[in-house]
Amino acid sequence: MTVSIEQIREAALAEAGSATSAGVLDDVRVKYLGRSGKVTLLLREISRLPKEERPSFGQSVNKLKVEVAKAIDEAAETLARRDEGESLRSSALDVTLPGRRPLVGSRHIITQTMEEILDILTDMGFTIEYGPEVESDYYNFEALNFPPDHPARDMQDTFFITDSLLLRTHTSPTQIRVMEKTEPPLRVAMPGKCFRSEAINPRSHIVFHQIEGLYVDEGVTFGDLKGTLDAFLRTYFGKDTKLRFRPSFFPFTEPSAEVDVSCFLCRGKGCRVCKHSGWLELLGAGMVDPAVFEVVGYDPEKYTGYAWGLGIDRLVMMKYGITDIRILFENHMQFLRQF
Ligand code: PHE
Repeated sequence: MTVSIEQIREAALAEAGSATSAGVLDDVRVKYLGRSGKVTLLLREISRLPKEERPSFGQSVNKLKVEVAKAIDEAAETLARRDEGESLRSSALDVTLPGRRPLVGSRHIITQTMEEILDILTDMGFTIEYGPEVESDYYNFEALNFPPDHPARDMQDTFFITDSLLLRTHTSPTQIRVMEKTEPPLRVAMPGKCFRSEAINPRSHIVFHQIEGLYVDEGVTFGDLKGTLDAFLRTYFGKDTKLRFRPSFFPFTEPSAEVDVSCFLCRGKGCRVCKHSGWLELLGAGMVDPAVFEVVGYDPEKYTGYAWGLGIDRLVMMKYGITDIRILFENHMQFLRQF
């Protein structure tokens, strides 16, 4: 029995001393002091011993119990102190670390480009006007000389909200809104988002941006349109920029033209960006159709004017070598932070 007490003591003290966590220490406590723990069993044996052996055995076992309990308590305290130290250390504030900078956003590259262009246009005497993105059929089509069911409407695949409300397909409806409330002469630039029901793929999207230009006065000619576009586009793209006018059709201008700009990358020699043509298709333009003047109550015998619509998205793509238009609208932080 003495041997057994001695062995138990050694084992218990060793196990308590080497416990690495409170959980392990609990197991040690149960193993020795629990209901059927080794020390507890020894205590139960006392009553089964001959009377004369009971006092000394009892004393030894009680001493063992106290010792084991003390060893376990001490180990528990050491562990608790260690854990506390660790949590203090890990939660300590390192005042030498640099602070966390709040994320500063930047304007979208489309917005930046529009602002750059509007700066040039305001320098040239244009004022800026905005129109609603949700438009009526009247402003988007009818007032612009697209009669109901006219095939010219097929040029612009439209998102309809109701039969007479839609997402504007171009910035031209703002021309009507401005002319309705202003008497000529006027020289206005009208930037904004436009929408068309297109398949979304690398080359087309349902959202795009335009800047519309409109100038109405007595005696405005196609020469004014060419001269103004020339001055404006050469300021933006560089002095040696050339323009090319190709005959086209828009219901609200007559005559109408598509305007190409000589490629700003290869200077017209031909490269990947201009698809080796030397030209970039960027604008629709023309002389305001007299039918439009009649709609807004301007005298078509007295006034003439020009208008153009400049596509911003393709311009941005070409300028920054962006090959997939979708990335402009995907809130991709890594992409957006470059600008
Ligand atoms: N609104 C036309 C379009 O989006 C462009 C345009 C504007 C053409 C003004 C002529 C005059 O296709």
